[in-house]
Amino acid sequence: MNRREFLKSIALAGVAGPALWSQTGCAPALIRPDPTTGLSLGYISGDVTANSALIWLRADPGSQVSVQYAKDPRLQTFLSTDEYPVSPEHDFTAIISLESLEAATRYYYRAEVKGKMPGHVASFVTAPRPDDDAKVTFCFSADTRESYKPFMVMNAVRAQHPDFFMHLGDTIYADRNGTARQLNEFWAKYRTNRDDLSSQYCFDEASVYVTWDDHEVADDYLPNNPLAPIGRKAFLDYWPIRHPSSEPERIYRSVRWGRGVELFILDARQYRDRKKGTILGKAQKEWLLNGIAKSTAIFKFIVTSVPMAGGGSDRWDGFPKEREQLLRYINDKKIRGVYFLSGDMHCAAITKIPKGGGLKDITAGPLAAPLNRITDGTARRFEYYLAENFNFGKITVDPKTAPTSAVLEFIDQDNRVFHTAQLSAE
Ligand SMILES: [Fe+2]
Repeated sequence: MNRREFLKSIALAGVAGPALWSQTGCAPALIRPDPTTGLSLGYISGDVTANSALIWLRADPGSQVSVQYAKDPRLQTFLSTDEYPVSPEHDFTAIISLESLEAATRYYYRAEVKGKMPGHVASFVTAPRPDDDAKVTFCFSADTRESYKPFMVMNAVRAQHPDFFMHLGDTIYADRNGTARQLNEFWAKYRTNRDDLSSQYCFDEASVYVTWDDHEVADDYLPNNPLAPIGRKAFLDYWPIRHPSSEPERIYRSVRWGRGVELFILDARQYRDRKKGTILGKAQKEWLLNGIAKSTAIFKFIVTSVPMAGGGSDRWDGFPKEREQLLRYINDKKIRGVYFLSGDMHCAAITKIPKGGGLKDITAGPLAAPLNRITDGTARRFEYYLAENFNFGKITVDPKTAPTSAVLEFIDQDNRVFHTAQLSAE
């Protein structure tokens, strides 16, 4: 699809919104390798905090790359990072950190390969500080399967102008449409999904937080699967994820967005131990329990790739004791404003978690994958259930409203809101 066909198709889908490049006022993203810039597959900004951001990019072999950034959309004056080499060990990708940024500010950036023309300009917004009453809006969903390209639903995500987007796992399907076994085959899955105009334009305006689920490795895999370290390496090469330098393979992390929001992004895959009955592992569980108890954010969103109730033993249903411990802890300590966000079910749902003391799990997806019409949508745990469209959730938290509540909207691929609910922080 060329640029004109693409514009026509999103206009037909009803998500044309404002002019495509109104935010950046510059040339379109370049999807395929471009000899003038030496870049390919666009950029992704991710794991943004109040003062930092990671920029993911991919460049020609032998390139030295830097990122230029500024508050000025035209980048007439800008700061620049050091130059970094790309290498075959990471499939010529690089993840470059921008530091000392201002909070709650939109930054514009572009990559430059030494000796080439700079790439297109993209942007992201930094998080507000913890005491800031700023309104926060974000979108989340899961499941992008390559045979469902183009990922047109990403046009609708972009049209919502979220502060950020969360992909809750199954970012690739390593075991569908050809099974990946070698590292280069896993990388190829990411390259295929990244070679998508709708995703590129969305990622040019909204930063991402990403976690993984099973299909980054294999269906319902367990940590002793020999493909697990290979799938994890490819995932970490292709998504910008900040981790402590002593734990380069750590994926779970938290991030604060103003007074209203703290995200606790879980890794529900690599620390599973069926014998010990744990889905999170000891260290992550302690981190989570301490984190939500200490958090001063009005809403604490616990982001789990697999849903809290239903769907069989690969989900939290397979770890009932640890689930019970977590739910009891939240209730006993009277921790307010906790909601679970999940993917993996390939349907949109609001679930009242059984024996959860009123705690709820909000499931979104798929972005682009088969619909799960098999799940019993009439089950009593569902407050809402629909498996009829590609979809994402959008949550808006405005700390200035009293009593503070959040608005949840489920939105489909045509940018139509098909369900709305209030989330209470009481
Ligand atoms: Fe999935």
